[in-house]
Amino acid sequence: MPNRMPPKSKRLILKTAAATLVLAGLAAAAAGAIVLRAGWYDTTATSQHLQPVHTLLELGMRYSVRNHASEVRVPPLGAPRQVLRGAAVYAAHCAQCHGGPGSAQAKIAQSMQPLPGPLVDAGAHWQPRELYWITKHGIKMSGMPAWQFHLSDADLWSVVAFMGVLPTLSARDYAQATGVANAAGTPASAPTTAGAAQ
Ligand code: HEC
Repeated sequence: MPNRMPPKSKRLILKTAAATLVLAGLAAAAAGAIVLRAGWYDTTATSQHLQPVHTLLELGMRYSVRNHASEVRVPPLGAPRQVLRGAAVYAAHCAQCHGGPGSAQAKIAQSMQPLPGPLVDAGAHWQPRELYWITKHGIKMSGMPAWQFHLSDADLWSVVAFMGVLPTLSARDYAQATGVANAAGTPASAPTTAGAAQ
């Protein structure tokens, strides 16, 4: 189809469209600044983020973890001893916030926002190297601690290995795994099982 519109009016349409876009952008930025400065955004832990904010943060976290964890070299995972060690680490450091099969999170974790969820399906969302990265470095402004200051690298990988088997554990398996592991961690209370987990 031949274009019969004179070049002058075409230019005018383009200019008007560009100006409208710029003005709309400025108006949105100004509105955001007003909401922020007036203190209208709710930052309490008794209400969730607005959906668009939540989506933005969630997406940002996902891309960030994927990007930063891409270079992580994964050691062999899943040896029974390593998994049992991971169960001990999990029971001691993670279960209070994330709970476990048949085991609720601690009361204090229920008052957090974002609420730390169960990690049973974490292996479905994240690669092992990403689970390692999250556990090691934590998640900013969420209450997920950085465990690199508290756990050795071997323990970090052991808990990653444990998260890998978590979906296969019944409440009984979980209680047994963490029970044996805990007993092994405190040999004074159960000297007979201590050898099994070492
Ligand atoms: C003080 C509470 C707390 C403790 C203890 C804790 N976490 Fe978290 N964890 C969180 C919070 C809060 C989040 C973020 C939840 C969200 O963004 O929805 C999180 C998120 C995660 C995630 C990402 C989950 C997902 O699917 O996006 C993983 C994996 C994780 N934690 C692993 C661990 C491991 C492993 C440990 C123990 C070594 C641990 N956490 C201990 C509070 C905790």
